[in-house]
Amino acid sequence: MKLLENHIAVVTGAASGIGRAIAAGYAREGAQVALLDIDARAAEAAAQEIREAGGLAESFHLDVRRREDCVAVARRVAEQVGRVSILVNNAGINRRNAFAGDGAAVIKDWEDIIAINLDGVFNVTHAFLEPLRASQGRIVNIASIQSFVHVRTPNSPAYTTSKHGVLGFTRALAAELGKYGVRVNAIGPGLIETPLNAQARANNPDLVRIFMDHTPLGRPGKPEDIVGPAIFLASDLSSYVTGSIVMADGGYRAI
Ligand code: NAI
Repeated sequence: MKLLENHIAVVTGAASGIGRAIAAGYAREGAQVALLDIDARAAEAAAQEIREAGGLAESFHLDVRRREDCVAVARRVAEQVGRVSILVNNAGINRRNAFAGDGAAVIKDWEDIIAINLDGVFNVTHAFLEPLRASQGRIVNIASIQSFVHVRTPNSPAYTTSKHGVLGFTRALAAELGKYGVRVNAIGPGLIETPLNAQARANNPDLVRIFMDHTPLGRPGKPEDIVGPAIFLASDLSSYVTGSIVMADGGYRAI
């Protein structure tokens, strides 16, 4: 028996990086997966890859900033795929402008990052609440070590704020939705090699060194490193776990 058989999982930001790996991992564990992303072509390519590997996957275009679109896509997923029992709020962006730097850039970063990383999580979760309640579902939010700290590498205060917010939202929903049997948890990845930080890693070799000096496992993570915790939190393996954050950070937060 696979761990996620008979589940329907929605993963946002599933066209790339961590979300793409989680979608593929869920499909390997028997879930039917709906891949949502603003990049429709890449989401379809990811879904195609899952289908070619024998899994069940469909892609849907979604900009998580647009609340009405989230409601519309929830309706389409219900019609075309079925009743969602797992939601992974993964879509996110980062920029690394300092607060005291260029004012226009700082304001734009704040607006864009909060709109996607925080409002987006609210929008999608609210849109899928009904099926998640009806199925005693599981919500997995992708937080960060920046749900606790502001890292010493160049990084936007908006990102840190958004990820603190994601953890707060996780705890608030866990408290409220427990009575319906809905579990809500987060994952806190450390530095994971994805397109999100490819430019920063290339332009700033110190960035990886600064992270690794603080990482007991001594290596950056790969998207695959987040898949195990994501399966754990979505499956019955975590049946008494809610309101928690599983750190998958090579030990960064522990020291
Ligand atoms: P990525 O850039 O590889 O993937 C992000 C995906 O989100 C892309 O497919 C992108 O098209 C999609 N997306 C962006 N804006 C969107 C929108 N408005 N609506 C729908 N989809 C949108 O990034 P990565 O690294 O896989 O990040 C995934 C999550 O993990 C993010 O929430 C990020 O903050 C978080 N995270 C990443 C870490 C890392 O080191 N890579 C560390 C900690 C957390």
